[in-house]
Amino acid sequence: MIQFDEKTGVFHLSNEHISYVLQVVRGRYLMHRYFGRRLCAFRDSRPFQEIDRGFSPQPAAYENERTFSLDVLPQEYPAYGHTDFRIPAYEVRLADGTTTTELFYQSYEIAKGKPQLQGLPASYAADDEAETLTVHLEDSQGKLAVDLLYTIFAEADVIARSARLYNSGKEALDLLNAASFAMDLPDHDYDRLNLWGGHAAERTLERVPLMHGIEETASRRGSSSHQASPFLALLRRDAGETSGEVLGFSLVWSGEFSLKTEVEQFGTTRVVGGINPFEFRWHLEPGESFQTPEALLVYSDAGLNGMSQAFHEVVRHHIVRGRFRDEVRPILVNNWEATYFDFDDAKMDNLAACAKDLGLELMVLDDGWFGKREDDNSSLGDWKVNTEKLKGGLTGVAESAHKRGLKFGLWFEPEMISVDSDLYRAHPDWALKAPDYPYTFSRHQLVLDLSRADVRDYVVDSVCTILDNAPIDYVKWDFNRHLTDAFSAKLPPERQGEVRTRFVLGLYDVLERITQTHPDVLFESCSGGGGRFDAGMLYYMPQTWTSDDTDAICRLSIQSGTSLVFPPITMGAHVSVTPNHQVGRVTPMQTRAFAAMMGCYGYELDITRMSDEEKAEVRSHVELYKKIRPTMQLGHFYRLLTPFDGKGNETAWEFVSKDSREIVLVYFKTLATPATEIRTLKLQSLNEDALYEVSTYIPAKGLSHDGAGSKSLSLEGKSFYGDELMYSGIEVPKIDTDFAAYLWIFHKKD
Ligand code: GLA
Repeated sequence: MIQFDEKTGVFHLSNEHISYVLQVVRGRYLMHRYFGRRLCAFRDSRPFQEIDRGFSPQPAAYENERTFSLDVLPQEYPAYGHTDFRIPAYEVRLADGTTTTELFYQSYEIAKGKPQLQGLPASYAADDEAETLTVHLEDSQGKLAVDLLYTIFAEADVIARSARLYNSGKEALDLLNAASFAMDLPDHDYDRLNLWGGHAAERTLERVPLMHGIEETASRRGSSSHQASPFLALLRRDAGETSGEVLGFSLVWSGEFSLKTEVEQFGTTRVVGGINPFEFRWHLEPGESFQTPEALLVYSDAGLNGMSQAFHEVVRHHIVRGRFRDEVRPILVNNWEATYFDFDDAKMDNLAACAKDLGLELMVLDDGWFGKREDDNSSLGDWKVNTEKLKGGLTGVAESAHKRGLKFGLWFEPEMISVDSDLYRAHPDWALKAPDYPYTFSRHQLVLDLSRADVRDYVVDSVCTILDNAPIDYVKWDFNRHLTDAFSAKLPPERQGEVRTRFVLGLYDVLERITQTHPDVLFESCSGGGGRFDAGMLYYMPQTWTSDDTDAICRLSIQSGTSLVFPPITMGAHVSVTPNHQVGRVTPMQTRAFAAMMGCYGYELDITRMSDEEKAEVRSHVELYKKIRPTMQLGHFYRLLTPFDGKGNETAWEFVSKDSREIVLVYFKTLATPATEIRTLKLQSLNEDALYEVSTYIPAKGLSHDGAGSKSLSLEGKSFYGDELMYSGIEVPKIDTDFAAYLWIFHKKD
């Protein structure tokens, strides 16, 4: 998969679909040559043109060669201050204040598989699943060395990149910036697509033409955030959902990040991504090193869908770890929107009895079970059960679920501390805080200083003590505010620029210790919903609560947006009550259920207060979901329509089982429309000449007012060849009702 040609200095990484090419030029400079569809060989059909570009200077060794400047050459890990004026991949400040360094190629290694990145989440692979190239670069004055790592996977069209920076000199230096990757593209005929959002409104698509100058998608919040996702795509102008060239970039990092594009004077595009250099500074003594987080780079010539298939493959099989990676997830009931802080043993026992009766499999006790927490003002950090609320303790409530045959789950928010807590009274210096300035509160809480080993030990001990003393099968791990005043009482002034990065590295240390010692606990991460939905968290916790917005209609876009990078099995999605608690919308139970079936399915409402009719409907949804769950969670996922298309009124998702024998299609129409266009849905990824039977059809409830009625167009029991379903398609029966949802199941016949 990785070849090196000594004569030309060309490294060629390829699998069946993609090629990534870099080249050592003049024995020194590491240049980017190609990332795209697989090439059988790279023979340099586009050699560098020698042009004298005004104001593009020459490195010293090429003083008389005015056509040679790093300012115009495509590079792999560019420096600033040494003839290139574009965004650099790294910046250092040497002991004497100099910021100029120049990295020259030294040597390389090619190894099977994928090395782990010390202390960081990263993709993993067996020796026959991937190959890794390490290129060693060294500063011409011996003050810095950099290893660039490139992994190519056999089955995923992804290149994983990261960099390790060493202080190879004799004096200390400061890193001011250390990107995970940089890449120069020869033109700028791209649209830039990113996922922006807010609390309860995560991951909305925005696609705009790439502009000259620098554009950035970034978080400065100490976490990957609701507001921006650590993801960026560049799409050819004609690229769409299923066709055209797309480059996708996703960071395996849960802290603040930056993904920048720069279209420069000659129309080329530089892409740079990694930890946000804003406020970043990392002190390196001689001999010390810094490993950057990993970036996943995707090339697709099959549009956004092709990009998503590549990301889903790498996330499902090379990021998510542990026994739950390939297991279907339990259907849960969570008491948050059912009771908020107002619960006791009796209420939870009732909930368990009802959950069992409805066919659910896991009961989750959310916030409010510890310390003196009656609202969100107190007790974070005091991880001891409140026996006034739960007289039988955690064991009592867990066993009331277990004896009914349900699993039991528990909420934590271990990275936080309330000022009104025993922990704070004992250790006020454990919170992040700027000396001499007052605290900044958010949801009445402060953030623990996870850069400190003593704080990390406390967090690990307190969570493990709970997990080891009560039968807990699932943990929801929350993070409900962002970092402000990020100063640590333990670090010296020259290291304060490390706190925001050390916080995330500290979190990873805590997560590794807790999850690896509790391999049978299913962990779900959460940050006020989907505020930390990134590949870094998924390395430790195989699923994430997608959003605090549980409205089915809002979820159609949130889940569609999330699916650009992450597969359905990573998304928590629950049926909640109507009117919905976030937007007040009233939607049919069927619509809420079909929307939630896209992810790890559950209920988040007071099921004990449902009418018999509602309960019967829930039972039928749960029964249906159990049958199709392997297809929905372990198969392949396709977006046929999303709220980001057209008028934003329709959504259609297709799920194809791993063995391609079962297909589930769901369709949603948000608002009924007059003079309605009839929607045709064309399925994807079927065998053209295989026969598929429509084994189940569940129409939206209600009749079309002209009397047609959706049942009359049922295809149930009929069979069609794959080509007809893909190229002619099926029609959605007309109906006159808002928030309509339909579901079809197809089975391939032998
Ligand atoms: C966050 C989560 C919610 C719930 C509350 C509890 O907002 O996203 O699901 O757990 O915290 O305080």
